[in-house]
Amino acid sequence: MKIKRLAILFGFSTALSLPPAVYGADDSVLRAGEKQFSKCAACHSLDTDMHLAGPSLVRLAGRKAGSQPGFTYSFALEESGIVWTQKTLSQFLENPQRAVPGNVMAFGGLRKAAQREALITYLLDRGSTR
Ligand code: HEC
Repeated sequence: MKIKRLAILFGFSTALSLPPAVYGADDSVLRAGEKQFSKCAACHSLDTDMHLAGPSLVRLAGRKAGSQPGFTYSFALEESGIVWTQKTLSQFLENPQRAVPGNVMAFGGLRKAAQREALITYLLDRGSTR
C-alpha cells in the first residue's frame, strides 16, 4: 500500500517536473509537514496569488525572498538577498528574527530540525504543484 502510494507520488511529481529534491518524498514526511503547516496556515496559503496576512508560499524553491507579486513585504525581507532553498528556509524558520532582523512575520520559529525538514518538504512539494 505504502509503496503503491509512493509510486503514485513519484509518477505524479515526474509528470509535473518537480525539482529533484522532492522526488519520492515520503508519505509520512509529507503528512508530518502538513501537520506543521497548521502553524502557518492562518497567514499563508499555497495557492498562487492568494495572499493572507503573509504572502502565498507557492514556488519558493530558487525564488528571491520578498519577490511574490502582489504582496507588500518589509524592506528587511526584500533586501535580505536570500534565495529560498531547503537550507535557507530552514535557517529562516528556525528563528525568523535572527535570520532576517526587522522582518515583520509574527512567528517565533520552529526549533526542532525534524519538524522544519518535514514542513519544508511539504511546502516545496505542494507549493510546486499549483
Ligand atoms: C502571524 C502571521 C504569520 C505566521 C503564523 C507565519 N507567517 Fe510567514 N510571513 C508572514 C508575513 C507577514 C511575511 C512577510 C514578512 C516581511 O515582509 O517581513 C511572511 C513571510 C514568510 C516567508 C517569506 C516568503 C517570501 O515570499 O519571500 C516564508 C518562507 C514564510 N513566511 C514561511 C512561513 C512558515 C513556513 C510559517 C509556519 C511555520 C509561517 N511563515 C508563519 C506572516 C506569518
